[in-house]
Amino acid sequence: MKQSIKIGFVGFGTVATGAVKILQDQQELLERRVGTGLEIVKIADRDIERDRGIILPEGILTHDVSEVLEHPDIDIVVELIGGTTHAKEFILEAIAQKKHVVTANKALVAEQGEIIFEAAASQGVDVGFEAAVCGGIPIIREMKEGLAAEKLKSIYGIVNGTCNYILTKMRDEGGDFSEVLKEAQDLGFAEADPELDIGGGDSAHKLAILSSLAFGTPVNLKEIYTEGIERVSPIDIAFAGELGYDIKLLAITKIVEGEIEARVHPTMISKETLLSKVNGVFNAVYVEGETVGGLLFYGQGAGSLPTGSAIVSDLVEIARNILSNAHRRVPSASFMPKARKALRIRPMAEIESLYYLRFMVEDHPGVLANISGILGKNGISISSMIQEGRKIEGGVPLVMMTHKAKERDLQAALAEIGELDCIMGSTLLIRVEGEDPS
Ligand code: HSE
Repeated sequence: MKQSIKIGFVGFGTVATGAVKILQDQQELLERRVGTGLEIVKIADRDIERDRGIILPEGILTHDVSEVLEHPDIDIVVELIGGTTHAKEFILEAIAQKKHVVTANKALVAEQGEIIFEAAASQGVDVGFEAAVCGGIPIIREMKEGLAAEKLKSIYGIVNGTCNYILTKMRDEGGDFSEVLKEAQDLGFAEADPELDIGGGDSAHKLAILSSLAFGTPVNLKEIYTEGIERVSPIDIAFAGELGYDIKLLAITKIVEGEIEARVHPTMISKETLLSKVNGVFNAVYVEGETVGGLLFYGQGAGSLPTGSAIVSDLVEIARNILSNAHRRVPSASFMPKARKALRIRPMAEIESLYYLRFMVEDHPGVLANISGILGKNGISISSMIQEGRKIEGGVPLVMMTHKAKERDLQAALAEIGELDCIMGSTLLIRVEGEDPS
């Protein structure tokens, strides 16, 4: 039996600190699970002076990444520096040195996963990326193993805690998007530069990974339609509530007629659904399989210890593989590399959905007839409507829910409606998931 499995870290930030803490605090438990110890040999970071509340033996910390990547004894390299340039170089170098790799880098796996997986396959090493999607929720392992029998049909994820926190707060306590974002930043929930979170990019990274694992296909991040939560306003949240819905930033992927839909956007879902009960910074992923039906995975999608826990779970898996000489027992992308098939990602114009439309209009005769006439001409059928007398910035809000419609037709209708003189301000469209009311 090997004395211990030796681990090196590149990056000693929040997530690495959580992982190191777990490796130290749960040493005995981990050894009982693996059969031998998991030993931290080196940790490289630019800042090795800062007190992280962790006591490490002499000589572990270094400024020099090559002391990790080229260390002859290190079995597994954990990359936690983020970004896609140096991180990619370091991971490929570690793989070239025949070291297994663990990373939490969703952007890198989403954008360059194919290259990394190919390099790992050719060197016969494992790549773990459980921490890249939804922090502490073990969704990657479930996609690869727990659901291996399933022909998966769809995934609906609340995969960004910052957006879910903002939308929950706007719903429960009121306040504009920008006020609530500022509050979230002051409390340390949102990044100083929150664009990747609120613009939907972070969710798109996670969706690209999930979709690729679910359907056994490469997914090009650029083909994922991505819309953030910036335009969701308190009146839309209130109207959604009146209609029996919540608004969530959903990452959605499904198989439709042999093609994939992959999109991130604010979505109205019925208050009766489990996903609508996922509040605050929590994440959840609802997966539908052909035989298992629906499953919901819920938990903390970020944070030092939850994400650190996902890192350590990968270390345990890889350590077990090393000890049983079973490297690459589970293929990195869930399907055998040669068995993956490129499926077409359906362009947004081709999807079908139910829609919530909120117009700001002048309050005078004929407005409703004009708008509904254009919708009708484009084949869009209205299922319900709210028109309130209250004036906001000189106009009145007019809300329409549609039956299932093609996005292309809806956008054509909205372009035409936008030219009407009675339209004041911008129109908001929110896609609605659920059954078409008959
Ligand atoms: N910034 C992400 C979030 C966590 O707000 O959920 C890391 O992916």
